[in-house]
Amino acid sequence: HAGRPARLRPMEAVSDSPLLRAARGESVSRTPVWFMRQAGRSLPEYLALREGVAMLDACMDPALVTEITLQPVRRYGVDAAIFFSDIVLPLKAVGVDLDIKPGVGPVVASPVRTLADVAAIPDLDPSHVPFITEAVRTLVGELGSTPLIGFAGAPFTVASYLVEGGPSKDQARTKAMMFGAPEVWDALMRKIAGISAAYLEVQVAAGASAVQLFDSWAGALTPTDYATHVMPHSAAVLERAGRLGVPRIHFGVGTSNLLTLMGEAGADVVGVDWRTPLADAIERVGDRAVQGNLDPALVFAPTEVMLQRAAEVIEAGRYARGHIFNLGHGVIPSTDPDQLARLTDFVHTYEPRG
Ligand code: CP3
Repeated sequence: HAGRPARLRPMEAVSDSPLLRAARGESVSRTPVWFMRQAGRSLPEYLALREGVAMLDACMDPALVTEITLQPVRRYGVDAAIFFSDIVLPLKAVGVDLDIKPGVGPVVASPVRTLADVAAIPDLDPSHVPFITEAVRTLVGELGSTPLIGFAGAPFTVASYLVEGGPSKDQARTKAMMFGAPEVWDALMRKIAGISAAYLEVQVAAGASAVQLFDSWAGALTPTDYATHVMPHSAAVLERAGRLGVPRIHFGVGTSNLLTLMGEAGADVVGVDWRTPLADAIERVGDRAVQGNLDPALVFAPTEVMLQRAAEVIEAGRYARGHIFNLGHGVIPSTDPDQLARLTDFVHTYEPRG
């Protein structure tokens, strides 16, 4: 039912929605589906709204955030809204001098190198982000029975932007700090963990009913380095989020050999990128739900090819404790929205064979 506004389904409570049921490992009437980066990027109605508005300004405008978050829910009838924001927004909110450059990503004016640099970053307080509280409250009113997923960046991925000063292929400076200045690294990771946890708390307090922790660049690490230098800090965020009583999704890219640890860090649902066959991921995460994992490039293939591969993902997902259908990473900007509409309808109406 692509395009049917979510608020026309008021009889179904949010807590009984397919997404939250799957996240908790309960039976579902249909496989829930949403897309990372569904808000923004590919939709013409998004590009029209964003014209002349800088990304971070858009993130701080509750009316724009509300509208952009709702656009894909209206268009596709997906089973969740993802809050329109960015992983660096809370840093901006506490006063870190940074910008999001179109086509580049987050750029930090003065990269973090010393203990004094870390100490200069304030902790996040709800009073830093009143516009987030306002946007979330408005959204949950509009969304009716469709859950809103709040999110934050995981300490490693956020640290990589703060230390490198911008996007990086090899995370060399970040790892240099991790290996060579453990005191600074530990302080930085604790600082970000506190900010990310507080940011999730604000979103859940205002009505978000699930959270996703994005550790997009954790795949750059060996399992041992992840377990030693990163996992305890992500676990601290997930532990605080766990006290909020909402399901926690933990996602990274290229994390095939980290999936077990990412689950053990305290996730209810482990996000899987497209490089790992879902069946292998399910084995690695044990008794947890999974989210994923269609290659985002398959949306550019002929529809029958895309849907055949989607069917394989759904079939594999039947062996998980719970399965939330998604792409293996974000929607590619030039994606045809009609393909995502067909994909959503296919997942919703899929009948298992045999
Ligand atoms: O639809 C959604 O998923 C909600 C919105 C969302 C954005 N960023 C909006 C955005 C979410 C969940 C994020 C998270 C985010 N931001 C991550 C983790 C998710 C992932 O993709 O792995 C990361 C690593 C970032 C940092 C960041 N911000 C990147 C890498 C970029 C893209 C740079 C580019 O243009 O290629 C951004 C900018 C950004 N965040 C845009 C949007 C819509 C583009 C804004 C613009 O250029 O105007």
